[in-house]
Amino acid sequence: MISLKENLSDQNVNKLPDGNRRNDWLQTIKVILQPIEMLEETQQRYGDIFTSRFASFPTQILISNPQAIQALFTADSQLFDSGSGNQIVQPLVGANSVILLDGDRHLQQRKLLMPTFHGERMRAYGELIREITLQVTSQWSIGKPFIARASMQDISLQVILRAVFGLKSGERYQQIKQVLTEMLDTFNTPLSVIFLFFKSLQRDLGAWSPWGKFIRRRQQLDELIYQEIRERRHQTEYGEDILSLLMSARDEQGQPMSDVELRDELMTMLFAGHETTAISLAWALYWIHYVPEVREKLLLELNSLDIAHTDPATITQLPYLNAVCSETLRITPVTFFSFPRILKAPMKFMGYDLPKGMMISPCIYLTHHRPDIYPEPQRFQPERFLERQFSPYEFLPFGGGNRRCLGMAFALFEMKLVLATILSQYSLELLDKVPLKPVRRGIVFAPPGGVRLKVKQDIASNRVERPTA
Ligand code: HEM
Repeated sequence: MISLKENLSDQNVNKLPDGNRRNDWLQTIKVILQPIEMLEETQQRYGDIFTSRFASFPTQILISNPQAIQALFTADSQLFDSGSGNQIVQPLVGANSVILLDGDRHLQQRKLLMPTFHGERMRAYGELIREITLQVTSQWSIGKPFIARASMQDISLQVILRAVFGLKSGERYQQIKQVLTEMLDTFNTPLSVIFLFFKSLQRDLGAWSPWGKFIRRRQQLDELIYQEIRERRHQTEYGEDILSLLMSARDEQGQPMSDVELRDELMTMLFAGHETTAISLAWALYWIHYVPEVREKLLLELNSLDIAHTDPATITQLPYLNAVCSETLRITPVTFFSFPRILKAPMKFMGYDLPKGMMISPCIYLTHHRPDIYPEPQRFQPERFLERQFSPYEFLPFGGGNRRCLGMAFALFEMKLVLATILSQYSLELLDKVPLKPVRRGIVFAPPGGVRLKVKQDIASNRVERPTA
């Protein structure tokens, strides 16, 4: 990573020396394996706007300065592309994904998807989320450790499959669940992510090679998704789910989405929607049980209601629950960067003359750890969200501007309902009460080990853990 602020002072990024070209591989591996150390070191040396270059990406400017982030998010979106900067996820989501589109096609696709994640349509999923949470957590045994990330992933994956795909329990549902989980597990170690970053490693060297394994699982998943699409095309009535909505949509020429376009958008929702939410939930459970005062305060708020019979909308408006979710997304954001914005033409930005093609990436992690905005940034303190309102350029776990996360409202709704349901039903204990540093999982950042917990008491049935002899 080069990050020569002193060189930016000559106001011309073109003149930056090419300091890290010979170390590209090493730099990339460090960014992959020790991203926090790398980011913090660079920020300490060069401040909150600096250049960085790694892997095969063009030079990018990383910003963690709220004024710069505001300038970027409020600038005319026609000046930037983002899709072409997200190619790293193309093997997962396909070329027609909203994440990879730019310009009018991107706007059209956002308009189509947006209503499904908001308002009445979203609230209709409240009961489903509660039901799935109860069903997954009923598999926990008193006194037996479980991995929070795995359980939360089971919940969020089922939520997506039922709400987005409109799948009912059955054989295909189970198959999709299994294959997708295996496919994402291909990238579950920090080092395995190198396959996504370096195209030259993306070679199918047989069923046992890492990329070969990934490709075969993706084919299996594609077949299952195409089977579902074909079956739905023969149905005369459309349901309330997102696949139904996409199938009934027509473009300006009156054309429906093709099977491949539908597949890519479904994969996008699966990929963007379930692991992010699951990891955020695992972090929330970690923090709630790591800081006892937080758990006490939260339980006080939740116990003031009969959660099982309270309208989901009321639960999602609880102030302390909201503060706990926000603080979780601040201190341990699942994505460290928002999408890059790539200049379509030369531009003056924050006093610097930037050339066409330059990428600007807001760094969520560094912005969320600025001591001038969040005093004692390493402390988990939900109260800060009760005492102050942060601007969308200071608190940006879901990015911003024209690419802001489409699933933001849905993810927060789901997080709050799942947490309220679990905490009002079970008394849990964190088994590894140690500080945790996020590690890479695919392109997101997860708690190492996935957070081990155990059930001490099932409150509803009043069963408690028996002391061991
Ligand atoms: C806690 C959970 C989540 C987090 C932290 C998160 C975070 C993000 C971030 C940082 C971006 C990039 C925004 C930007 O560059 O400005 C994004 C984009 C996106 N997210 Fe999420 N997300 C979450 C859940 C979801 C869910 C549940 C869905 C849908 C089911 C979803 C769908 C998307 C889509 C489609 C985009 C691309 C938007 C575009 O290109 O216009 N996300 N998300």
